[in-house]
Amino acid sequence: MAAPVNAGTISPVVDYLRISLIDRCNFRCQYCIPDEAELEYLRQQEVLTNAELLQLLQDVFIPTGFTRFRLTGGEPLLRPGVVDLVRQIAALPQTQDLSMTTNGFLLAGMADELYRAGLRRINISLDSLEPETFDRIIGNRGRTRWQQVWEGIQAAYAVGFNPLKLNVVVIPGVNDHEVLDLAALSIDREWHVRFIEFMPIGNAHLFGQQGWVNSEDLRQQIRQRWGLTGGQVRGNGPADVFQIPGAKGTLGFISQMSECFCDRCNRMRLSADGWLRPCLLNETGQLDLKTALRSGVPLSELRMQVQELLNAKPTINFKMRESGTTGAYSRTMSQIGG
Ligand code: GTP
Ligand code: 5AD
Ligand code: SF4
Repeated sequence: MAAPVNAGTISPVVDYLRISLIDRCNFRCQYCIPDEAELEYLRQQEVLTNAELLQLLQDVFIPTGFTRFRLTGGEPLLRPGVVDLVRQIAALPQTQDLSMTTNGFLLAGMADELYRAGLRRINISLDSLEPETFDRIIGNRGRTRWQQVWEGIQAAYAVGFNPLKLNVVVIPGVNDHEVLDLAALSIDREWHVRFIEFMPIGNAHLFGQQGWVNSEDLRQQIRQRWGLTGGQVRGNGPADVFQIPGAKGTLGFISQMSECFCDRCNRMRLSADGWLRPCLLNETGQLDLKTALRSGVPLSELRMQVQELLNAKPTINFKMRESGTTGAYSRTMSQIGG
């Protein structure tokens, strides 16, 4: 197998691939999928099979320098055979880090087998501690789902996932009154709570109504209540990490609205139907790897195309930074994988 060619050729090294396993989700979070959106889901034959995904990892992504993989969705636990896939990716000798971002709803029954399959760290969305607010955010019109998510988090903790991160998208007037309660979850347990600035991706309507809360304002509130020091937690993402003095866990702030971190972007995204996307915020340069693979384009050619995209990535990121705008979205966050 060819040696990684990405390392050292650009800065920072892009070695983190977010892999969306499925575009479907069992939630409909307001900030992610707009209420009125009629989503067209992929047909099964459009989704990369396990074998195709593994082939792309082994013969295209790993040789071009990728060693850290995060499984996302939609909701990745809805993908049939997800545990086997975790086992296979974890078993690749070059895999240095394998993680998952999930809404936690199916986690209570799966945490143990996922851990045994080789998944070691997990990020779970938890936008509210109030069941009613939670249900409103996730667009639930039936029975409450908060309890089952909470049980999923407890199960993941009991099994030993570490670090275990809880993602909170802060929406003014919806859950921002809970910031201190959510931050307090990091005190007694080794839970890493991350506050995410709400981004206007595919949700212009809600975004226009609600806007977003600046991470610095949140830190200010937390500082006044407990104080705040620097912190550290393992991760590949853009969070700035802090800690309540004496807490077991940490607090992360993902501040893509108030602070542009495009210049330290170390990742690409692969959609469930095999599109490789160099930047969350725009669609420039996307590669249709599934069609190429299925039509017999040689793997060496695919490696070259991915390498070219890696080389172009700083310019693509920079374009976003310069324009200060968000791109045009033909996909929602659930379809991109967050
Ligand atoms: P680790 O740090 O490795 O634990 O993961 P992560 O923070 O990268 O993953 P997670 O899936 O939990 O993402 C948390 C939030 O960061 C999500 O809201 C993402 O959309 C946001 N995010 C992740 N990558 C990017 C990126 O490249 N650009 C922007 N603007 N936001 C991102
Ligand atoms: N802005 C910020 N974060 C978002 N996520 C989904 N949509 C948005 C948005 N519009 C987050 C989810 C999940 C992660 C993958 O992306 O909360 O934690
Ligand atoms: Fe919510 Fe994640 Fe599903 Fe989007 S993909 S609706 S953020 S659970």
